[in-house]
Amino acid sequence: MDSSQQRAALHAEVARLHGTPLYVYDLSVVRRNLKRFARFDSVRYAVKANSNLAVLRALREGGARCEVVSAGEIERARAAGFTPGEMVYTADLMDRRARALVGDLKLHVNAGSASMLEDVATVCGPGQVTLRVNPGFGEGHDRKVTTGGAHSKHGIWHEELPAVRDRAEALGLRVTGLHVHIGSGLEGRFVERTVESMGSAVALFSETLERVSCGGGMSFPYAPGEEAFDLEGFAETWLAARDRWSRELGRPLTLEAEPGRLLVADAGVLLTEVCGMKSTGREGATFLLVDAGFHSMIRPLLYGAFHRISTLAEDGRPTTPKMVAGPLCESSDVFTQGKEGAPAPQALPDMERGELLMIHDVGAYGAAMASCYNSRSLPAEVVIGDDGAASLARPAINPNHQLELEKELLP
Ligand code: LLP
Repeated sequence: MDSSQQRAALHAEVARLHGTPLYVYDLSVVRRNLKRFARFDSVRYAVKANSNLAVLRALREGGARCEVVSAGEIERARAAGFTPGEMVYTADLMDRRARALVGDLKLHVNAGSASMLEDVATVCGPGQVTLRVNPGFGEGHDRKVTTGGAHSKHGIWHEELPAVRDRAEALGLRVTGLHVHIGSGLEGRFVERTVESMGSAVALFSETLERVSCGGGMSFPYAPGEEAFDLEGFAETWLAARDRWSRELGRPLTLEAEPGRLLVADAGVLLTEVCGMKSTGREGATFLLVDAGFHSMIRPLLYGAFHRISTLAEDGRPTTPKMVAGPLCESSDVFTQGKEGAPAPQALPDMERGELLMIHDVGAYGAAMASCYNSRSLPAEVVIGDDGAASLARPAINPNHQLELEKELLP
């Protein structure tokens, strides 16, 4: 057996053992991806992309720190071994649960709005803070994930920074960090412009600044032939800026990257069982019906995102353009769709009930965005370790627990 046949056999085995839909993460891919960021002074993993404990632990072991955005993520990061000093809490607002935890653990906060400074001063007392800057422009693989510009809710508007500096000072907060994240799925068109904008911010906070974070958002090439993100060029530009600013300030600034997707996207596949096939008789309108749906992985529905779909191993069967659709009672429950729901069939063979399909590159924002819509379970998650052995890392979450609680409340 060659290595791809071995991997197919392993996938078939874990699907048999743990059921489908099933996420499978390869931790050796996560570790390899982390090494690509070695040139930055520090790498801060955005936990929202994939918060499975085994994934978090692998990243911590590899030397990453983490960025958390909710009380739940703080608890997960702690369980994976991250110390409070290794976490940064990023938000534009702080809810009550987060205030309690951030205060207890004295987490460093990356504040995305001026009003958060009051929260930070109240829950953590005087100390250090980072400011997330909205430089006035943004970029992303979809409008929904563009986080810079006048219509984004994220970050402190660049023109407000002088006033925010005064406010921070009045509250006893030292601005030691500046952060920018203009969107997710960046192609790199705005790197120079972002650096330039951050340069003005660096000058404003020159007395207290220690760190600059260039955020995450680096795109991943999901479709065959799509160009990979130029991480080397991106790092080069930011490192040159770091050195320039350090010279101007007369002391070393550190540069941090905050990727989510690029660390985990290609580490994950979603295995799903074919439950039937049907056709309207029209070109490209044959449907493979599978047990995963947008409750298991919502990216195609939400963003028209492309994810390659294949059988477990290349088996030489003839293919035709096929749609792959899930079990939910909603016509948008289709994995093969582009923007605005446009049909985007993929080449797949005719398949029998019980065969398995694999949806690729779902390690980022796959399981993390799954739901229990239609009262279905959240999928289980399996990890493959460095020794090539697979183990269950999260059991499926069945909403029946919730059902029991609701039954008790029925009058
Ligand atoms: N830092 C901050 C402050 C962020 O808001 C995010 C992502 C990241 C870092 C990591 O971005 P990444 O490197 O993963 O692109 N659900 C969408 C992506 C939403 C991203 C939210 N923030 C998707 O499936 O494409």
